[in-house]
Amino acid sequence: MTDTTQVDVDALLAEIFLTTEGKSDPYPRYAAIREHSSAFRSAMGFVVVGRFEDCQWVLRDARFGKGEMSAMWETYDLTEEQWRARFPDMERRMSSMLGLDPPDHTRLRRLVAKAFTPKTVENLRPDIVRLTDELLDQLGDSVDVVAELALPLPMAVIGEMLGIPASERIVLQPFVRDAVKTLELDPPLDQLDAAAHARKVIAEHIEALIAARRAEPTDDLLSELVHVEEQGDQLTHDELISTVILLFGAGFETTTNLIGNGLLALLEHPAELQRLRDDRSLMKTAVEELLRWDAPIQVDGRKVFEDVEVHGMTVAAGQEFVTLLGAANRDPRVYDDPERFDVGRVAPAPMSFGAGIHYCLGAALARAEAHVVFDRLLERFPAIEPDWGDTRPAYRDSIVLHGLEALPVRLA
Ligand code: HEM
Repeated sequence: MTDTTQVDVDALLAEIFLTTEGKSDPYPRYAAIREHSSAFRSAMGFVVVGRFEDCQWVLRDARFGKGEMSAMWETYDLTEEQWRARFPDMERRMSSMLGLDPPDHTRLRRLVAKAFTPKTVENLRPDIVRLTDELLDQLGDSVDVVAELALPLPMAVIGEMLGIPASERIVLQPFVRDAVKTLELDPPLDQLDAAAHARKVIAEHIEALIAARRAEPTDDLLSELVHVEEQGDQLTHDELISTVILLFGAGFETTTNLIGNGLLALLEHPAELQRLRDDRSLMKTAVEELLRWDAPIQVDGRKVFEDVEVHGMTVAAGQEFVTLLGAANRDPRVYDDPERFDVGRVAPAPMSFGAGIHYCLGAALARAEAHVVFDRLLERFPAIEPDWGDTRPAYRDSIVLHGLEALPVRLA
């Protein structure tokens, strides 16, 4: 591979990660990267893959995983001492299943998995419909769908499952937004400071809820987890806190982005929106297409634990891989005519929920929420019109999480 091609792919990656235009429409750039090579050693320090099969391989193969946290202070020009003084709790982040490898990952995931099976989620559907309708009841003619529906709904649903009261959810919402910044690729230091502070505040609130559940258990997931922790050998106190923070935050800006990006896609393809209105039995394939079309999480990744061969390239143990989920979702090797938006598309499930042992635990819940939201929106509003004039709604300034700042629409 010549240096010139290296500069080209890196320039495309820089556009996707760093420019407003690249963030809002990464897809033509993804296509160029995906078709250029199956795996690319970027000057940014990682190996990048964008084809469906390669992303699946990295996320599924047991030779890849989360690994130890790397020496993050080096990224920020700090000494290890300065780093630890500034972020004393940073390692605790790793005690949630999202950051762990087996066997700890297996143990923690198993403790909560049964709350998120398709069957359990199906039983929650009446509650999701009720919470959606409560939010729709409050909408005027002119609304920002992100702020008034897409943000509060997932939080209300997981809040009820966990047993976090509505009054607490409202207080915690801005902190959760700050806390999820740690998911980004090397966020700026001031955002890490805000995330560390937010995590501390959320943890304090959760400690108080835990104390209440210890005194008086109720019928919710939090009480169940507190009970497991009390048994002594399966869940430490730090893990309990991390698990609750992870579950509470996981649907926020993910399901939110699915609803926001999804409605934008439908409004930008009015014929497909009409097709869905006319035949609501397409809702299942439509939700899959919305997940594929503009994935709420664009980037995932792993570290490789041993030397591997990737399409003729030798990669040494310890190397980080970046998987471009949004690129995989438009891979013509898997999707016919991938640049066509088709609410009736019958195709393999998109890569949007990841793959392998960390495959999104909330996938069934997120799908059910999107299904209910779009169904109720179409049922209750015979007309949903864009209300953003000539300027397309802007995406939030982030790389991993991909979603709109706001989505102004008129409802009738
Ligand atoms: C459309 C909405 C959602 C999307 C696109 C999404 C996407 C993802 C992705 C890509 C991963 C894999 C991360 C990795 O490989 O490291 C993941 C993991 C996870 N998700 Fe979701 N997610 C969504 C909604 C939810 C919801 C609603 C919940 C639960 C309330 C949830 C809970 C989790 C958890 C607990 C994990 C970690 C699983 C593990 O490490 O084993 N997600 N999600």
